[in-house]
Amino acid sequence: MKSKLLYIGTIGCQMNVYDTNQIAGVLAPMGYIGTEAIESADMVIVNTCTIREKAEQKAFSFLGRLAKIKSTNPSLIVAVGGCVAQQEGEAILKRMSHVDLVFGTHAIFRLPELVRRIESSRCRIVDVRLSDTIEFDGPVYGPLTDGQVSAFVTIMRGCDNYCTYCIVPHVRGREASRHPDRIVEEVRMRVDQGIREMTLLGQNVNSYGSKEGLCSFAELLARVDRIDGLDRIRFTTSHPKDLSDDLILAFGHLEKLCHHIHLPVQSGDDGILKRMNRKYTRGGYLEKIARLRAVCPDISITSDFIVGFPGETDDQFQATLDLIETVRYDGLFAFIYSDRPHVPAAAFPEKIPEPVKKERLQTLLALQRGITRKKHQAMVGQVRSILVEGPSRTMPSDETGMASPRIRWTGRTSSNHIIHFAVPDVFLKKKELLTGSFVDIMIEGVYAHSLWGRLIHGPICATPGKGETTIAA
Ligand code: SAH
Ligand code: SF4
Ligand code: F3S
Repeated sequence: MKSKLLYIGTIGCQMNVYDTNQIAGVLAPMGYIGTEAIESADMVIVNTCTIREKAEQKAFSFLGRLAKIKSTNPSLIVAVGGCVAQQEGEAILKRMSHVDLVFGTHAIFRLPELVRRIESSRCRIVDVRLSDTIEFDGPVYGPLTDGQVSAFVTIMRGCDNYCTYCIVPHVRGREASRHPDRIVEEVRMRVDQGIREMTLLGQNVNSYGSKEGLCSFAELLARVDRIDGLDRIRFTTSHPKDLSDDLILAFGHLEKLCHHIHLPVQSGDDGILKRMNRKYTRGGYLEKIARLRAVCPDISITSDFIVGFPGETDDQFQATLDLIETVRYDGLFAFIYSDRPHVPAAAFPEKIPEPVKKERLQTLLALQRGITRKKHQAMVGQVRSILVEGPSRTMPSDETGMASPRIRWTGRTSSNHIIHFAVPDVFLKKKELLTGSFVDIMIEGVYAHSLWGRLIHGPICATPGKGETTIAA
């Protein structure tokens, strides 16, 4: 079979990253192999996101740039997948004459057939059919990168929560869970391929299995925990309303479950939470945080926030700031509220002016920066175990010159803190031992979003204090 080059651009969340890998996996048997060089590709796929207006604009500007590439290479197949494809469907074909295929979020497993039809007759196709159940449960194994230690597995798709601001239920369809046997099989296979850390994905993992009467999410975690060769489990995202006691207790007894939870709260004000249709209160949320910390005292907690939701008053925004001070998060993502098509909040009155939204975002981020700095500083001098992911691709922009200009490496703690460290030159020859191994790092410095440390124990090991290095057995 003649091999063909496939370039996939991905915008959006971890689920889209997983989907991109699945797309590569289903197209590989047709001879498509990945390329980073878009100009030489036979097919370009853009896997899109529409969570906020900016993400949608990004997708359209990427697609716009492809028109020029297609004009110099008319046989190029241009395909649009993901959430913008689902939302816009045929309108994309009408708007962009260089696009050949629009496939929605449930069409990934139909891609080989769709692409075959385009290859043979150069027709233009839209497939945005949504189904309430999972028609094809895989597993499909897309390519891993060299030395990849951490990967995703989607355990469920869709969302039934209908938060009033959110487009996801409209573009990902109804919530449906994969069978636990398929999930375990997929994780096992990835472990055999060298993966050490697995992140289980779903819009609301804590309701996993409930509709289909499969096992609970806590039970699924316990099954994954027993997989030999896997070292770490993470998951995202857990909706606060469904965070069960079983799941909280899992942090106390599952050996491989990392001590980190991403628990998006969105707002610290009960009135806003109600109008967002989040179905929990500030008090209920704080109680769950207290229980998590009682079961797992070193758990790190992160969250998502939306500022400038329609009708948000200064006092309500203050309540959000107050919640951040109360919880003292280890990190957070904050977003300016953005109107999305067909969602209820788009029709809510009292839209907040753009400058006010921006100012609130800056205030919130400044507050969290201070909290993160203090928390990071408190870690200086501590020794933490990290799973090494590989050489750092980028260095923090606020680098303070603590590191000498040697190769930097990066890993994560169980709490999801990113730590960079340097490897003594004499051991660079042994560097292949490092990726995928656990090493102990003495934390020596802090950046805004990560930490700097000294390697003190691992397959390559430097003894602290003496400047002396040894290779561990
Ligand atoms: N299922 C996850 C979130 C998925 S979307 C959950 O419920 O937590 C990721 C984040 O995007 C959300 O947590 C929210 O903070 C943000 N978001 C979603 N819709 C948005 C909108 N219309 N405007 C701004 N931010 C939004
Ligand atoms: Fe969107 Fe709410 Fe579903 Fe999360 S739980 S994906 S915010 S509707
Ligand atoms: Fe974006 Fe779709 Fe994910 S809208 S955040 S890619 S589910």
